Amino acid sequence: MLAWSEPKLLLSQKMSLLTTLFNPRNFRLVIAAIATTCILFVLLFFPRGSAASLDMTRFPDLKTTQPPITATETTHANLTTAEVTLLTDLTQYFTDYPIEKPFKERYGELGRRLRIVRDWLTLAQTTNNPTTRALYQDAIEQVVATQFPFLTHPSHPATTTHPLATLRASFTAPSAGIVIPTSDKTVRYAAHLIGALRSVLNSTLPIQVVYAGDSDLAARNRDLLASLAGPSPTAPTIEFLDILTVFDDATLQLQTGGWAIKAFAALASRFETVILADADAVFFQQPEVLLEHEAFVQRGALLFHDRLLWQYAFEERHQWWHSQIRRPSAVMNDSRVWVEKYAEEGDSGLVVLNKGRAEILVGLLHVCWQNSYEVREETTYKITYGDKESWWFGLELAGAEYEFSRHYGGIVGWESPVERGAQNVVDGVCSFVIAHVDARDRLLWWNGSLLKNKGQLGMENEYQVPEKWMIDAEWVKGARKQDASCMVNGVIRDLTGEEKRVLERSIELAQSLDKLVQLG
Ligand SMILES: *[C@@H]1O[C@H](CO)[C@@H](O)[C@H](O)[C@H]1NC(C)=O
Ligand SMILES: *[C@@H]1O[C@H](CO)[C@@H](O)[C@H](O)[C@H]1NC(C)=O
Ligand SMILES: *[C@@H]1O[C@H](CO)[C@@H](O)[C@H](O)[C@H]1NC(C)=O
Ligand SMILES: *[C@@H]1O[C@H](CO)[C@@H](O)[C@H](O)[C@H]1NC(C)=O
Repeated sequence: MLAWSEPKLLLSQKMSLLTTLFNPRNFRLVIAAIATTCILFVLLFFPRGSAASLDMTRFPDLKTTQPPITATETTHANLTTAEVTLLTDLTQYFTDYPIEKPFKERYGELGRRLRIVRDWLTLAQTTNNPTTRALYQDAIEQVVATQFPFLTHPSHPATTTHPLATLRASFTAPSAGIVIPTSDKTVRYAAHLIGALRSVLNSTLPIQVVYAGDSDLAARNRDLLASLAGPSPTAPTIEFLDILTVFDDATLQLQTGGWAIKAFAALASRFETVILADADAVFFQQPEVLLEHEAFVQRGALLFHDRLLWQYAFEERHQWWHSQIRRPSAVMNDSRVWVEKYAEEGDSGLVVLNKGRAEILVGLLHVCWQNSYEVREETTYKITYGDKESWWFGLELAGAEYEFSRHYGGIVGWESPVERGAQNVVDGVCSFVIAHVDARDRLLWWNGSLLKNKGQLGMENEYQVPEKWMIDAEWVKGARKQDASCMVNGVIRDLTGEEKRVLERSIELAQSLDKLVQLG
């Protein structure tokens, strides 16, 4: 098993193993392995963010010191010369040969590299030895600065030498908040969402609106959104973040990047736990419930599925995913898209991430890389649709824990007869949106705005409170934008009175806001 114990392999296997283990040269490695196991054990069962995430629900901005991670004896020791050499070699390898184009076949490799960065972050965090910590931190910063040049911002000198540490220091720990990227184009929906969160659902989570410069979101539109902070005296004001002041846009081109800003908004936000919502998301419940969602509390990352559609139709996409994911996680093995070859896995309209966990932070760096200009133009947005699939893919490749909400996307809409073949008509639920449920299978949110059909010209002012919903059934997709999609062969459920009241109030508010948006 170890090259230098070769002569002893001539003895019986059992003897050989024992001698190998207690060989003074190998003994140190064994101790190191045991120590690493202990550290991983401690991290696995006492993840840094898990205790905090429950508190944050009630005290979203409470600043407390992080519980210290129990350090083992060996973490006082200096690294051996061999260990320092290994660290230097890996650092030089990753900085001399950063992942460059063509990118398509290198998504997996970046994931493997980021797992090593994650291990360094963990080791730097758990060692009590300042020399060792400095060595790991230096390695991390060198690799990150080379591979993710956008982290180095010309007007923040510290980001030249310490891009990641500077970014992490900007996070308020522990904190949780809602991040809504928007431009002038989607400001109407952002206004509906913020208005509903604060004045219908009474959410007091802090909200940060993220945009790419004044030409992306005009000052008057920021003022409009700021005016929606809500009636509650305990609700914080709406915060604004110009992403161009945080990241160097040269390799990102976020001003014209559409969806691409989302991953960077999540990374740049001061919130340690980010609830990233598309401007056109619609909530049935306070987003606070997400922070208590078992999957998020356990894993630190909660994602939602898209609809199960188009089985076997995207063979090339599946080949690519399989070529990059060499060691699928249990989440992948459980995925019907992965196993049964449906077309789309993620609805990224809502993503919840705890950046306080090293593995999630590096996973998010992978997602950002996928959404950087050259990578998204060459591959990400060519093989899959926008940023949708980049979230689970990045977390999976970088070895982070994450979990999907149990169900694939459902529907909220209206009951309607649906043609199934020549003579066959069944009752289904039809609309233009994808609905998602919480951990207790109650409606939580949908993707697609409060409008009846957001995508259809001439329907810009048509609102209607939905009545029915369905999940875990079969999709019948409309062919064109004006054709509704339906779900059939499942249980047709009624929205509760409370759910309808929330939507009625949200629509009333949206209609009054539309007057302001049009005036502006
Ligand atoms: C570790 O190395 C530093 C710098 O070489 C030295 O000052 C320190 O005494 C060493 N610590 C231990 C515990 O050996
Ligand atoms: C929000 O607060 C208002 C005013 O106190 C109240 O009428 C309404 O029921 C609350 N909404 C929710 C969803 O609890
Ligand atoms: C996922 O499935 C593959 C192929 O069956 C298997 O080799 C792997 O061990 C599984 N992964 C997990 C984490 O269970
Ligand atoms: C939102 O829903 C539409 C279908 O209406 C889907 O095509 C799209 O991918 C979803 N958006 C995101 C960000 O996942």
